[in-house]
Amino acid sequence: GAAVEVDISSLQPGEKMTVEWRGKPVWIIRRTPEQLEALKKLDDQLADPNSDRKQYPTPEYAKNQYRSIKPEIFVGVGICSHLGCSPVDKFTPGAQPSLPDDWPGGFLCPCHGSTFDLAGRVFKNKPAPDNLEVPPHMYLSDTVLLIG
Ligand code: FES
Repeated sequence: GAAVEVDISSLQPGEKMTVEWRGKPVWIIRRTPEQLEALKKLDDQLADPNSDRKQYPTPEYAKNQYRSIKPEIFVGVGICSHLGCSPVDKFTPGAQPSLPDDWPGGFLCPCHGSTFDLAGRVFKNKPAPDNLEVPPHMYLSDTVLLIG
């Protein structure tokens, strides 16, 4: 499929936009400083904090603490690595009863309850076998992304 060009200049902190790439939803999220801070404290709660698993190999340029090229901008495929449902946004700490009280923000897959942080990393003891896919992408300018 063709690569998709996306202007992210209007994306505000804490907001997500979704574009379609190869028939898949690709999420682009501008994380807040608080959300980025929270990502640093989760390693021992995550199944694969450094994205070493290979079902969806994380591109080298996103193999870092934030799983992204620019720290604040997350680009990920919104399809659960378990059986392909689309996880829903749970950005707010303490989002709902089925999430832990200290929920740091992220996503919940409605099908079998896998939870992911705001870098798409799956929490431990969940059915999803891998983190969410980071699609190949690059910046054409400060505010224009090319996905694919
Ligand atoms: Fe997401 Fe099963 S499809 S947890």
